[in-house]
Amino acid sequence: MRKTLFTASVLAVALAAPFAQAHQAGDVILRAGAITVDPREDSGEVSAGATTFDGSQATLDSDTQLGLNFAYMVTDNVGIELLAATPFSHDVGVKGVAQGIDGKLGSLKHLPPTLSIVYYPLDKSSSFQPYVGAGINYTWFFDTKLSSSADQVFDGFDVQDSWGVAAQVGMDYMLTDSIMLNAQVRYIDIDTTGTTYLGDSKVKVDIDVDPMVYMVGLGYKF
Ligand code: NI
Repeated sequence: MRKTLFTASVLAVALAAPFAQAHQAGDVILRAGAITVDPREDSGEVSAGATTFDGSQATLDSDTQLGLNFAYMVTDNVGIELLAATPFSHDVGVKGVAQGIDGKLGSLKHLPPTLSIVYYPLDKSSSFQPYVGAGINYTWFFDTKLSSSADQVFDGFDVQDSWGVAAQVGMDYMLTDSIMLNAQVRYIDIDTTGTTYLGDSKVKVDIDVDPMVYMVGLGYKF
C-alpha cells in the first residue's frame, strides 16, 4: 500500500514536472532581434519620357533594424506569424544615365509587414524547432527624398508600394520553457517603380528589390 502510494506520487510529480516544451496550439510567441534587409535588386533601365538610357540601372544598399515577429500557434505544428520592424532606410543610386546625374539619387524608407503561415514539422516535445513558412507582403515606401545634388536636377521622387509573396525558413531553440533563440532567413518579392521629373519629362525606373531578409534574436512564449 505504502509502496503503491509512493509510486503514484512519484508518477504524479514526474508528470507535473516541467520539461522544455516547445510550441503547442494556443501559444503566443513574440520574437525580437536584429533584422537585415539585403536587396538583390534587378533594375530595369532608367527612362526619361521616350528616351531610355541603355545600360543604366538603379541600385539600393542594405539596412539593419529592430525586427519583431508575433506568432500564434493554431495547432501544435501550424502557426500564423506577422513580421514587423522599425523602418528600413536605403540609399537609392543610379548608374549609366549621364555624368552629373549618376551617383546617389536619394533615399527612401519602408516598412515591409509580412503575414505568413508557418509549419513546424517536429514534435512539440523537441526543444529544437525548425520551420518553413509562406506568406504575403505589403511594402510601404515613404519619406522618399532626392539627394542634395539630385535635387538640383530633378523634381519630386516617388516610389510605388508593393504587394508580393514571401517565403522563409527558420529555427527556434528552446533555452527554457518560455525563452528561445531564433534565426530566420526570408525572401520577399518586392517589385516597384521609382519616378521623378526632369523638367516636364517623367523619369522612371522599374526595380525588382527582391531582398533576402535575415533575422537573429530571442523569442518569448506566452
Ligand atoms: Ni520580384
